[in-house]
Amino acid sequence: MAESNRDLTLVTTLFILLQLCRIVSCSTSTLITKNLTIRDGDSLISEGEIFELGFFSPKNSTLRYVGIWFKNIEPRTIVWVANRETPLSDHNGALKIADDGNLVVVNGQNNTVWSTNVHPKLNNNVAVLLETGDLVLYSDSDRDTKYWESFNNPTDTFLPGMRVRVNPSMGENRAFIPWKSESDPSPGRYLMGIDPFGAIEIVIWEGETRKWRSGPWNSAIFTGVPDMFRVTNYIHGFKLSSPPDPDGSVFFTYVPSNKDDLLRFRIRFDGIVEQLMWNRDARNWTSLQVKPSKECEKYNRCGNYSVCNDSKDFDSGKCSCIFGFEPAYRNQWNKGNFSGGCKRRVSLNCSQSLFAKKEDGFRVLKGMKVPDFGSVVSINNSETCKDVCLRDCSCNAYEVVPGIGCMIWTRDLVDMEHFEYGGNNVNIRLAASEIDIFCNKEDNALLDIRKNRDYSVKSLSSLNEVLVEDQVDTPDLPTFSFNSVASATGDFSEENKLGQGGFGTVYKGQFSGGREMAVKRLSGKSKQGLEEFKNEILLIAKLQHRNLVRLLGCCIENDEKILIYEYMPNNSLDRFLFDESKRMSLEWRKRWDIIGGIARGLLYLHRDSRLKIIHRDLKASNILLDKEMKPKISDFGMARIFNYRQDQANTIRVVGT
Ligand SMILES: *[C@@H]1O[C@H](CO)[C@@H](O)[C@H](O)[C@H]1NC(C)=O
Ligand SMILES: *[C@@H]1O[C@H](CO)[C@@H](O)[C@H](O)[C@H]1NC(C)=O
Ligand SMILES: *[C@@H]1O[C@H](CO)[C@@H](O)[C@H](O)[C@H]1NC(C)=O
Ligand SMILES: *[C@@H]1O[C@H](CO)[C@@H](O)[C@H](O)[C@H]1NC(C)=O
Ligand SMILES: *[C@@H]1O[C@H](CO)[C@@H](O)[C@H](O)[C@H]1NC(C)=O
Ligand SMILES: *[C@@H]1O[C@H](CO)[C@@H](O)[C@H](O)[C@H]1NC(C)=O
Ligand SMILES: *[C@@H]1O[C@H](CO)[C@@H](O)[C@H](O)[C@H]1NC(C)=O
Ligand SMILES: *[C@@H]1O[C@H](CO)[C@@H](O)[C@H](O)[C@H]1NC(C)=O
Ligand SMILES: *[C@@H]1O[C@H](CO)[C@@H](O)[C@H](O)[C@H]1NC(C)=O
Ligand SMILES: *[C@@H]1O[C@H](CO)[C@@H](O)[C@H](O)[C@H]1NC(C)=O
Repeated sequence: MAESNRDLTLVTTLFILLQLCRIVSCSTSTLITKNLTIRDGDSLISEGEIFELGFFSPKNSTLRYVGIWFKNIEPRTIVWVANRETPLSDHNGALKIADDGNLVVVNGQNNTVWSTNVHPKLNNNVAVLLETGDLVLYSDSDRDTKYWESFNNPTDTFLPGMRVRVNPSMGENRAFIPWKSESDPSPGRYLMGIDPFGAIEIVIWEGETRKWRSGPWNSAIFTGVPDMFRVTNYIHGFKLSSPPDPDGSVFFTYVPSNKDDLLRFRIRFDGIVEQLMWNRDARNWTSLQVKPSKECEKYNRCGNYSVCNDSKDFDSGKCSCIFGFEPAYRNQWNKGNFSGGCKRRVSLNCSQSLFAKKEDGFRVLKGMKVPDFGSVVSINNSETCKDVCLRDCSCNAYEVVPGIGCMIWTRDLVDMEHFEYGGNNVNIRLAASEIDIFCNKEDNALLDIRKNRDYSVKSLSSLNEVLVEDQVDTPDLPTFSFNSVASATGDFSEENKLGQGGFGTVYKGQFSGGREMAVKRLSGKSKQGLEEFKNEILLIAKLQHRNLVRLLGCCIENDEKILIYEYMPNNSLDRFLFDESKRMSLEWRKRWDIIGGIARGLLYLHRDSRLKIIHRDLKASNILLDKEMKPKISDFGMARIFNYRQDQANTIRVVGT
């Protein structure tokens, strides 16, 4: 009797347990087989019990979806949904291995509403939920061949361990699609993925329209997210696999700095991407990053050729046209409608520029999110990168970006942002007339002088006030204050005068420390002289050869424009050739040496220098002689750069000698 009573109790308990099972999910397993189906209410659990797969309804919805979530986290955080477009309306659905070997979701009538849709081998396929949150379908006898995995078919969430394919030949990888709303997992309006063309970057699209981009990957961070390694660092965080797969693909993965951290990146239904980390103590998700969050991060907020400045001084990003550009629609712009962007004040001269009077130049913007749609040229060297840009009439900017290499931008310059910290330089191409010249920084040749503080060297910022507001692509040249030049030349006294040229007077200067230099002071406000002045700085400051006169510095203050050269004690060749008595002192050996020196200087200009230069005004008075009577070519005011493949250049004006 006691026996049968005990049996009855056991049966009752079992019955109650079974009833409970129908109400609460209690059938759990670690894999799905042909014989083992996951019904609504059952769940599949990853081995270490981090992730769970089963049926769920979003908030405010009664529809049933198959999804994956974090097992022990409340409120339930869904990271993947199977039948996001084909929900079930009742609790009679099931997830199983179909006769064709696919993993399928079926409804109560046994109709398939979702399938992995691959062509697996038919026997003993199993589906397993891995510790990473990846649901994998493979043959039980060959676990290395994955027929299908949820990590390759993501919904709105990127998890560490996922690999996001980057392959230009496969086009843009628009991998992540957010929910339509918080209660509707069907595909929403946005897309997030990798744009592999040019420099690789993450992009959020709304249809075909870009809403945000990360800026190019520089093999450590996405350059448009300069604060990225506050969150990660160079060892952890995003990594791009190397070498490529046989099909040319590489993959982005994410390595958490602590492998026990629960991390996820999700694109929300409103098109915003969040990086979240589970806070075990507070039991909630901490947001590590939200993009776009600031005004300036909104794609091309300020329009084309315009920079957005998110300095903390402004609540919402401030737009300004880049130098050399002006608002395309000034009325709209003044009203705060920046969509029209900016346009060039002076159009580029481009191809003619190699012979034309005015050549295009560059002006550097610092601390930038580089413009979108740059292309990468496999060049390492800044000069060559610049030449590539100059030779391409549609090129608007260039920069050698560390970690990426030479980038050139041949489309309109869009989506530029100025960062308070970090960012890259961008050299913007401008018509020559937009580029004012001034001298900057120290020249190595004068560093020793600088160290002795013999000369007062004007600071960059005060020069800016005199000439232009920002830095341009000019050679590094030391600058001298007008006072120091004036005192070195005895206030430009007659007795220190060495000669008078077309555009200025040359004086001998005795600078403190005893060093002698030649000082060329441009006459008054001569407009023409200014062109020659710029030309000299641009050309000869970049060249060094023992048969070219060295430019040592310059001085620009108010209307004064002064060039400072090495001093040549024996003056110019014409003083010897055209002077009856001095002519005799030039014996043939000396003349031979002088001719050889001039020829070497010319050979350097025409063939060996980085810039190929024609002097256009070569004459005896422009050949200067040092104390050993070695000749140096001077006066580059009329010189021009000519094309590499051109050994004859037609100049437009008849000039010089
Ligand atoms: C499924 O069940 C049948 C009959 O019980 C058994 O023979 C077979 O081995 C099972 N298959 C799997 C994959 O477990
Ligand atoms: C659910 O519905 C309530 C009432 O209509 C609404 O206030 C709430 O925002 C909804 N929640 C979601 C996630 O849609
Ligand atoms: C569901 O369909 C499969 C294949 O079509 C079949 O083998 C199975 O018996 C069906 N199950 C039910 C409950 O109808
Ligand atoms: C998480 O919880 C902590 C402590 O309860 C709270 O201070 C914090 O605001 C919460 N964060 C979020 C994002 O809810
Ligand atoms: C951005 O704004 C700050 C603060 O006004 C200013 O110092 C900085 O020069 C601005 N940068 C650009 C590129 O306009
Ligand atoms: C903003 O300016 C652009 C360009 O001028 C114009 O086409 C557009 O209609 C303006 N938008 C608004 C809201 O005024
Ligand atoms: C380009 O330079 C030539 C020669 O100086 C000049 O005639 C022409 O107007 C310039 N073109 C532009 C667009 O500035
Ligand atoms: C670029 O230059 C660096 C340092 O000179 C060198 O290590 C690297 O290999 C170069 N890369 C290319 C593409 O030339
Ligand atoms: C801005 O640049 C893009 C890319 O070249 C171009 O498609 C668009 O028409 C430009 N917008 C305006 C207002 O000029
Ligand atoms: C050249 O200059 C040096 C130094 O001033 C001087 O000693 C030398 O005599 C000069 N040579 C000629 C040929 O005048």
